[in-house]
Amino acid sequence: MPSNRNVSRDLAFADNHLYAKLFTDVELLEVDGIVVNLSPRAIHVEGDVRTAIQPWRSTIIHGNRVVEAERIAVLRITDLENLGGVMFRGWDWFGDVFDGFPRQTPLYLAPVDNVGRTEEDPLAFTMERESREQLQPFDIVVKCWWSPNETDCLIHNEHSFLELHTQVHGTGRLQKFREPDASTLYEDVIMAPGFTHEPFCTVAGENEFTYAWHRYYTVTESIWFVTELHPV
Ligand SMILES: [Fe+2]
Repeated sequence: MPSNRNVSRDLAFADNHLYAKLFTDVELLEVDGIVVNLSPRAIHVEGDVRTAIQPWRSTIIHGNRVVEAERIAVLRITDLENLGGVMFRGWDWFGDVFDGFPRQTPLYLAPVDNVGRTEEDPLAFTMERESREQLQPFDIVVKCWWSPNETDCLIHNEHSFLELHTQVHGTGRLQKFREPDASTLYEDVIMAPGFTHEPFCTVAGENEFTYAWHRYYTVTESIWFVTELHPV
C-alpha cells in the first residue's frame, strides 16, 4: 500500500542554488538543512536526547531524523557561485510588486508558495497567551527574499497576516523602531542561518494585527525565508 507519510514537493523557489522542499505528514524523516516547523505544535528531533523545535520556529539539522511533524520546510544553499543572480532566476525586484518601493533598494522576492491550511490561535502565536485556546483557520504562505549586504528593506508596520522570518544565508537583523525613522531603533535581533525570530506583532482584533515599526536589514548578502499565516 502506498504510504502517505513524508510526502514531499519542491517549494516554488527551489533551484540549483537553493534546496527548498516541503514535507508533510513527517515520520522518522532524515533531513539535512534548515528545518522550519510549519505547524502550531512542537516537533522533535532524534538523538541521544530527543529535543524539540517550537511551533513556527527552526533549527539546522545535519543528517538526522525528525520524529514526527505535520509540515516542515527544509532549506539548504547548494551552490554559492552566482547565488545573488536571483533576478535571472525568476525573482522579482520588490518595486515591481509594491508601488512606491525605493528605486535604488536591491530587494528581490521569490515566487510565493501556499503550502496549506492550519488551525492556530493567533494569541498563542503572538505569545499573548500560553496555550492554544481559540483556533481559527489560516493559510500558510511562504516566500524568500534576497538582498546584498547593507540593504535597508524598508521600515513598515502593516500586515494583514502573522509573519516570521527565518535566516537561510548570510547575516541580517530584524529591527524595531519607535517611528518610521532608522534613528528611533529600539530593538535589534541578529539573524544567523537557521534562526527564526519571535513575533513582532500583537492581536488587535479579529484578523487584525498590530505591528511594531520594523524592517529587515542585511549585514551580509542574505536569503531569508518568510512564514506568513493568512486568516481564511
Ligand atoms: Fe514585515
